[in-house]
Amino acid sequence: MNRLYSDMLSRVEMEIERIEMPNSPSNLYNPIRYIMGLGGKRVRPILTLIGSQLYSGKYDEALNHAMAVEMFHNFTLVHDDVMDSADVRRKLPTVHKKWTSNIALLSGDGMLVLAYQLLQKSSPETFSRTAEIFSNTALEVCEGQQLDMDFADIDYVSMKEYLGMIRQKTAVLLSCSLQIGAIVGGAADLELVILSEFAESLGLAFQVKDDYLDAFGGAEFGKVQGGDIREGKRTWLTVKSMELLGSDADRLREAYQIQNLDKRVQAILTIYQELDIQSLAQKEVEKYSEIAVSSIAKLNGDERAKETLSWLVDQLIGRTI
Ligand code: IPE
Ligand code: IPE
Ligand code: MG
Ligand code: MG
Ligand code: MG
Repeated sequence: MNRLYSDMLSRVEMEIERIEMPNSPSNLYNPIRYIMGLGGKRVRPILTLIGSQLYSGKYDEALNHAMAVEMFHNFTLVHDDVMDSADVRRKLPTVHKKWTSNIALLSGDGMLVLAYQLLQKSSPETFSRTAEIFSNTALEVCEGQQLDMDFADIDYVSMKEYLGMIRQKTAVLLSCSLQIGAIVGGAADLELVILSEFAESLGLAFQVKDDYLDAFGGAEFGKVQGGDIREGKRTWLTVKSMELLGSDADRLREAYQIQNLDKRVQAILTIYQELDIQSLAQKEVEKYSEIAVSSIAKLNGDERAKETLSWLVDQLIGRTI
């Protein structure tokens, strides 16, 4: 385990416990405490802290910002699980399963507001810069999430369209998290550009890996196996398969029509195996993570923070954390 990372992770966990919010109404705030307390990798707040460490040699001043991005991320998960009809998250029932969909909607709304309140704890000058990037990012995430749903209902999605969609739903938030930390740390504008290149490539690798794990990862990843297939979602695996099958792509479309969900998952996994999609996905993840790592060398920041960034890429891609 990387030392700086483990210090940051324990600090993040401690700060999450200390986020202030009222107790009542309990059906509004308990789901927020529940989802925030379920753990998860805490990648986004750690990126915020690394961003600050890179340019100021410390990360304390970015803790509220780190909480803001984790709060926002968890808000997107609560709503995403309603949209994806997902019953399990981080090995436990999702908020809408444990409570109701209406409660999930409202607690999610509350989390978005809490995220802004956390950002607002900094000076007005810092807030005006961080709020701008945060708001632009939040809207892009909405756009990406809408495209994710739209793609489930159309016949053909190109790889370019798919990559655009995951850039918006996943990569931009990783980039925003890192940039906000760097702004707090006093980074020059050029550094922010390099950081966003790094984080967007990492984000693409991260979402392709997430798609891969959804199909092949099994229950230890904390979600229902084959959840994307059950919901008819277009993932890197389906988009690549369509490309490879060419005029035979109807085979995959027909498999998606199978009503018995276990049989549908089985039929689609069989097609994936025939096409050796597993190793192609792995290569794609490696391609984007190598692009990410190559940006790190261009950064002018603290060497320990740079090492921690490249260590983090390796861990995420191997998903050992
Ligand atoms: C899940 O994010 C949503 C995606 C963008 C794939 P994470 O995989 O970072 O979820 P947690 O926070 O670690 O549970
Ligand atoms: C989620 O993508 C992206 C956001 C929450 C914005 P997924 O739907 O693939 O995430 P998981 O697999 O449910 O974590
Ligand atoms: Mg989902
Ligand atoms: Mg989703
Ligand atoms: Mg997923």
